[in-house]
Amino acid sequence: MIQLLWASGCKEQAFGYEQEAIKKWPDLNIGSCHTEEVLEKFITVNESMARMKDDVRVLQGVNYPVLIRGETGTGKELIANALHGSRGPIVDGQLTKGRFVAINCPSLSVDLMQSTLFGHKKGAFTGAINDKIGAFQYAYKGTLFIDEVGDMPLSMQASLLRALQEKKITPVGSNDEVDIDCRIVCATNKPLEAMVKAGEFRLDLMHRLNTFELHTIPLRERLEDVALLIKKWDKRGGFKLTTGCLLEGNCRELGSLITRWNVLGR
Ligand SMILES: Nc1ncnc2c1ncn2[C@@H]1O[C@H](COP(=O)(O)OP(=O)(O)OP(=O)(O)O)[C@@H](O)[C@H]1O
Ligand SMILES: [Mg+2]
Repeated sequence: MIQLLWASGCKEQAFGYEQEAIKKWPDLNIGSCHTEEVLEKFITVNESMARMKDDVRVLQGVNYPVLIRGETGTGKELIANALHGSRGPIVDGQLTKGRFVAINCPSLSVDLMQSTLFGHKKGAFTGAINDKIGAFQYAYKGTLFIDEVGDMPLSMQASLLRALQEKKITPVGSNDEVDIDCRIVCATNKPLEAMVKAGEFRLDLMHRLNTFELHTIPLRERLEDVALLIKKWDKRGGFKLTTGCLLEGNCRELGSLITRWNVLGR
């Protein structure tokens, strides 16, 4: 029943700008239309980034976990969203597509993360006044994006591994397992290998997540993109990067600097 509900909700959701994308790319299915639409927003002329975009085009069509690695502001979430194209051929003229559900590990305590990911039963803990569906189920036939997975506590890593392997979860306070069917995309800017050595990240989980890795490289290593982004975003004209600006926040920081320039002229 729940699955039927999701499916009908998913169809409604897919009728947005993706219909326009289908007109634009009539030979592609809805999944790859979505991917192209999002990849267009990922502005780059850098060769490795162009190769990464090609990898995204391939990976959007398979249902394996993908790990996206890169510094803050380099577009990891944009790429995760582009990968979300994977689920959704057109069936009987209808788009079938699940949701893109994002959770951010550092912002959640262990208890909250557990109930956010797995859901809970009414009365499972103080304040659990109703049954709640977790992100794994909410992303039915869609994508669950786990941001900053390097910040996931060890106890939760074990549960994530189990969910990935068994494709089943147990909501908090429930005895019953629930089947899940969603694509898992994770992102991190943490050195997971070093964390494994330090006993902070599970080796088995790392290997489960990193079969397919995508790397977003920092802007300082692709200055050609800095010039291109300035050209695209500078509406006022004449924007100059202050000498010594390290752009540690990458595209996000550059975007803010240019927005300020566009509005205030300084
Ligand atoms: N190549 C790009 N072209 C255009 N915009 C980009 C590009 N990369 C990132 N952006 C923009 O920069 C902002 C930050 O991107 P995003 O949130 O995807 O980064 P992130 O790597 O997930 O960062 P964090 O690690 O801080 O979560 C967004 O507004 C995104 O649209
Ligand atoms: Mg992010």
